Amino acid sequence: MNHLLTLKDLDKEQILYLLDLAAKIKATPQDYADALKGKSVVMLFEKPSLRTRVSFDIGLNKLGGHAVYLDQQNGALGERETVKDFGANISCWADGIVARVFKQSTLEQLAVGGNVPVINALSDLYHPCQALADFQALQEKLGDPSKVKLAYVGDGNNVTHSLMLLAAQIGAEMVVVCPPGYNVDGKVVVDCQEINTRTGGKLTISSELSALKGVDAIYADTWVSMGDETPLDQIKAVFSPYQINSQLMQDTGAQFFMHCQPAHREYEVTSEVMDSEQSLILPQAENRMWAQNAVMLELLKWG
Ligand code: CP
Ligand code: NVA
Repeated sequence: MNHLLTLKDLDKEQILYLLDLAAKIKATPQDYADALKGKSVVMLFEKPSLRTRVSFDIGLNKLGGHAVYLDQQNGALGERETVKDFGANISCWADGIVARVFKQSTLEQLAVGGNVPVINALSDLYHPCQALADFQALQEKLGDPSKVKLAYVGDGNNVTHSLMLLAAQIGAEMVVVCPPGYNVDGKVVVDCQEINTRTGGKLTISSELSALKGVDAIYADTWVSMGDETPLDQIKAVFSPYQINSQLMQDTGAQFFMHCQPAHREYEVTSEVMDSEQSLILPQAENRMWAQNAVMLELLKWG
C-alpha cells in the first residue's frame, strides 16, 4: 500500500487489517503516542471540511506527528504551478499528503509528482477514509463486517462509491437505492461486480424502497454534494420520498442509521432518527480519526 486514493486498490486482507489496527489504536492510543514521531503531513483542502480536517490534525498529533493545513487562499490548486510540481515540492519537506479535491485526477497527479504517500480526503468520485470509519462503526456493533448488509439511500455519490467498493472488497452485501436519474457511477458498479465475483459480495441497485427490507443499517448523505450549486429545496420533490424517517426504519427493520455528515435535518433524515439510539453518526465521526490513524501509520511508518 503506497497511497490511499481509492478502495479499489485494497484487498480484503488489507481492509480487515486496517479496521483491526484502527480498533487497536482506539483501545490503547497511548501505545501509539510516538508511532509517527517527527513525521509531518500536508493537508490540502479545495473544499470545506469539519470532520476530515480536525480528525486528521488531532489524529496525527496523537501519533506524535505534525500537520500543516493548506487551503485555497493562494489561489486554486494547479493555477500558480502544476499539481505535479506542487506534489514534488511538498515531498521535499513532508512525509505525506492528505488532499480533499474536486477531481480524482488531482490526487493521481499529486501522487505522480511527489514521492510521498497521498491520502484521499474526498474527491468527486470517492471518500475512502469515510467508508473505513463507517465499517469500523459497523464492526463495533455487529461483529464481522463481511457479514453486514448495508443500505445506502439517496444521491449516488462519492460516499456511496467508497461504501460499495469496501463492501465488495470484504465480500459484504450492499443495497443502493437512488431516485431515477441520481444513480451511482456505472464504472464503479462494474468494478464492484467484478470484485464481487472474487469475494462473494453482493450488490443490489434499485430505485425502490422495498429493496431495503431486512438490511442491518440504512445510510444517508446530503442530496446535494459540495461543488454542486443546486439549492437543496430545488431537488426536494425528487428526493423527499427517499427521506429516512422512523416509519422507514420500522418498515425495513433496519437496526441502525448512518450518515457521514454534514446532515440536513428534515431533508435526507428526520431529527427523530438522527438523534435516536439507532443513530451511529457520532461513532462514525469519532472513528474517522482512528481509521485515518491506522491508514497514516500504515503508509508513513516506513518513510
Ligand atoms: N464526513 C466528512 O467528510 O465531513 P467534513 O466534510 O466535515 O470533513
Ligand atoms: N457527498 C458529500 C460528502 C460530504 C462529506 C459531498 O461530497 O459533499
